[in-house]
Amino acid sequence: MAIKTSFRPIARGMLRPTRASAASRYTSSNLTFLHIRLASSAALAKKLNIGGREVTVPTGLFIGNEFRPAIGGNTFAVENPATGEEIVQVAEAREEDVNVAVTEARRAFEDKAWADVNPVERGELLLRLAQLMERDKEDLIALEMLDTGKTYRQASNLDFPGSVGTLKYYAGWADKLVGLTSFNIPGAFAYTRREPLGVCGQIIPWNFPLLMFTWKIAPAVVTGNTVVIKSAEATPLSALKMCELIKEAGFPAGTVNLLSGFGKTAGNALASHMDVDKVAFTGSTATGRAILKASAASNLKKVTLELGGKSPNIIFADADLDKAAEWSAWGINMNFGQTCHAGTRLYVHEDVYDAFLEKFTARMAALKVGDNFDRSVDQGPVNSKMQYDKILGYIESGRQEGATVHLGGSAAEASTKAGGKGYYVEPTIFTNVKPDMTISREEIFGPVVTVTKFKTEEEVIELANDTTYGLAGAVHTKDYARAVRMTNAIKAGTTWVNMYNLVHWSIPFGGYKQSGLGRECGEAVLENYTEVKAVYLNTGMAAPQ
Ligand code: NAI
Ligand code: MG
Repeated sequence: MAIKTSFRPIARGMLRPTRASAASRYTSSNLTFLHIRLASSAALAKKLNIGGREVTVPTGLFIGNEFRPAIGGNTFAVENPATGEEIVQVAEAREEDVNVAVTEARRAFEDKAWADVNPVERGELLLRLAQLMERDKEDLIALEMLDTGKTYRQASNLDFPGSVGTLKYYAGWADKLVGLTSFNIPGAFAYTRREPLGVCGQIIPWNFPLLMFTWKIAPAVVTGNTVVIKSAEATPLSALKMCELIKEAGFPAGTVNLLSGFGKTAGNALASHMDVDKVAFTGSTATGRAILKASAASNLKKVTLELGGKSPNIIFADADLDKAAEWSAWGINMNFGQTCHAGTRLYVHEDVYDAFLEKFTARMAALKVGDNFDRSVDQGPVNSKMQYDKILGYIESGRQEGATVHLGGSAAEASTKAGGKGYYVEPTIFTNVKPDMTISREEIFGPVVTVTKFKTEEEVIELANDTTYGLAGAVHTKDYARAVRMTNAIKAGTTWVNMYNLVHWSIPFGGYKQSGLGRECGEAVLENYTEVKAVYLNTGMAAPQ
């Protein structure tokens, strides 16, 4: 509470628009929209019963700290992947809504109050948001599980602490951004300062909706930018709930604006917008390419991309095989393989291939797949029908191209239990895999792993790097000199030794090659949300003649 009082005067007095001033900013074509907004704002939330817990979720577009219907009145269905049933309809942003949100974010940015606010107060707002998340933890987790198919363990032990930790970490950066000072130029003194970019467009995927929301907004707002963020069409709910908390925390109106909507319409409009200064994207490499093109074709907005992966996970003969099998199973099973850094290509030294495969297979076979609200279940459904069809298509291609299905390979029994409507896939292991097979090269984004034998370190380095991706990779060995050689040799942004999938908000994360541009997390991402300005002061230099 003490935190809230300290920032309230800024949030209230200077930045929140009155209804009249808000109305005056809209063009005549938007007046109908305003009308609809006032008439139906009460309906822009829905009470859900999630496993006995009542959770209210806003369903509007969040612009200027208000939930509003889309200008065109469009909505779309949000689906529960465990049953294939509709959960709720949410407002669908189109280009005209993107324009309004960007105008609002621009106004909030140009008001100066946000960028010029005492940075500590921006940090306090993030801390306050983290506290509100903790208060509403079970609501957020329930929504995330319902919308994505995640298990309670995944949502509560990983995604939730990761999200809160991210907010707290960036809150701490508020007053720690500094520049350089130089006394090395005779007759002049120079220093640099970091300035916010302006309006940041952010586009997030469906595999970690809550976590990606915090990864994106926290570094942007703590550095004084304002944000228009688009959630993934498959999973808009947790971000909507977060916006309710953003308003409650007291963020100035327009600092964070959220649009639910589709990529080709709302996403593309954001990436192409002439008044957006930066776009930060997480998702597929194909869409990353489209976003970079949209930037090039519009205003050359700055672009950071966190894209796909096909990460190698390498087991040497001297590894602790039990632990390696455990970590490797986790490497593919975390979030059911719907993780960009998943360990999808296992390479095992020939001396321990059979022994390792037996242990690894036992772990994969023991996973219980089913209703994600059942706490004894290890893996729920995959995220959507699109993803389900895609994964099963890749499994079929593996079979057709001659790989051996060593485990799994089908829709899981739980799909039948859900009346054929849920999207459950068996944990699947392929052996006899060749490097040029589709399942070796493309990101499957599901519980599907390939296992390949190798003989030498040189050979496995070549195999590991034989990919257009470069997001992550791991090595399991007791030989630390080898561990260092291998992690140096793997061309990827994150590497692990004797573990897999640890990604901490304080450590830079991002991709080599076609896995991305720029870094998220840690101090590194702050460079992507600020411009560096050089300032020279004349301390006695005469104008050159
Ligand atoms: P996607 O990359 O198309 O979607 C991610 C986000 O981008 C969503 O918010 C979507 O609405 C938006 N988007 C789509 N097209 C856009 C466009 N032209 N302009 C601007 N925004 C756009 O991924 P999708 O279709 O959901 O999944 C396909 C595959 O992508 C997955 O099977 C997986 O292999 C990969 N993927 C990778 C992720 C990662 O974390 N690296 C996350 C999600 C998907
Ligand atoms: Mg969903």
